[in-house]
Amino acid sequence: MASSLVLSGLVMTIFGLVVALSNLTTQTEAARAFFVFGDSLVDNGNNNYLATTARADSYPYGIDYPTRRPTGRFSNGLNIPDFLSKQLGAESTLPYLSPQLNGQRLLVGANFASAGIGILNDTGIQFVNIIRIFRQLEYFQEYQQRVTALVGAARAKQLVNQALVLITLGGNDFVNNYYLVPFSARSRQYSLPDYVKYLISEYRKILQKLYDLGARRVLVTGTGPLGCVPAELALRSRNGECSPELQRAASLFNPQLTQMLKGLNSQIGSDVFIGVNTQLMSNDFISNPRAYGFITSKVACCGQGPYNGIGLCTAASNLCPNRDVYAFWDPFHPSERANGIIVQQFMTGSTEYMYPMNLSTIMALDSWT
Ligand SMILES: *[C@@H]1O[C@H](CO)[C@@H](O)[C@H](O)[C@H]1NC(C)=O
Ligand SMILES: *[C@@H]1O[C@H](CO)[C@@H](O)[C@H](O)[C@H]1NC(C)=O
Ligand SMILES: *[C@@H]1O[C@H](CO)[C@@H](O)[C@H](O)[C@H]1NC(C)=O
Repeated sequence: MASSLVLSGLVMTIFGLVVALSNLTTQTEAARAFFVFGDSLVDNGNNNYLATTARADSYPYGIDYPTRRPTGRFSNGLNIPDFLSKQLGAESTLPYLSPQLNGQRLLVGANFASAGIGILNDTGIQFVNIIRIFRQLEYFQEYQQRVTALVGAARAKQLVNQALVLITLGGNDFVNNYYLVPFSARSRQYSLPDYVKYLISEYRKILQKLYDLGARRVLVTGTGPLGCVPAELALRSRNGECSPELQRAASLFNPQLTQMLKGLNSQIGSDVFIGVNTQLMSNDFISNPRAYGFITSKVACCGQGPYNGIGLCTAASNLCPNRDVYAFWDPFHPSERANGIIVQQFMTGSTEYMYPMNLSTIMALDSWT
């Protein structure tokens, strides 16, 4: 009896030691932190906390998410940052505004993205209360102060320097600014080529600021094929062909973005910024949906009107029964399955897709153990 108590005491002690040690191991071998900046393509739910119409926190958003509930992601399930977190072996980043983002959870990283925003401060003004990119960067500074209070300045700096960063901007500067209404202020001010040059020069300042705040590995996505999304097909297409004007915008913007990133990297003397050609990645399944198991890349799963491309995705919209066979979930945003295909290209794409290298190469390079 007594000896069995001693024995069970010993077992408990050993068990406790193992738990404590495994705790230590998890902490030292924790996945690298992940930070996300940008718009609705990467927002994990910050706008749920804001007074704005740009939100995705009601049914049927999230219908295929593990909880089957809306989270604020503009997807039927996971979005691009979620798939990237999986690749890092980490849990998904919480929205920065979530009250749950505190204590040890801060070390996973944070998602600062906000649906509706763009490179320019005047993009998405109709959504009123959204977190514009300069505010996202201020929150990143505030985040670093909070992590410093938690683990000290040296570890906080290391966590930020070793983190993976994703930034997705630009699409809204076209669809929710330049092309929002005919004769928009920006379209009266600039020709399209001059507007693109202006966007690129402003984007460069934002990325420089991100570098100054400690980011050292940043995935910068270009805009997708803007003219081919169901919303633009409904608005501008007569026969189902992609809108030439918006396609022209994307094909001016994306190569200049790559050039700008090259310039920044050579100025810094290191491949900090990685250009992600989301236009090419999406074009693959848009031009040949069946090869990727989609029955259509023109009609959104959730929406109304031609191509289900008019208005918002709501409980009153048409909803397809099987989201996996649609490339677009709503009039603007890819389905969960399309997001997974895109992130697979992040991992293994050739230099045409990922410049100057893909995420598998980055993860092999950036291992500090
Ligand atoms: C694991 O680490 C955390 C944070 O340092 C600590 O709060 C917790 O008590 C530890 N758990 C065990 C079982 O040691
Ligand atoms: C946008 O707003 C920020 C302050 O929030 C300011 O620093 C920046 O210069 C503005 N950008 C432009 C192009 O006006
Ligand atoms: C991308 O990843 C694959 C491995 O999945 C690798 O074979 C290939 O060389 C990589 N390409 C570049 C340009 O880094």
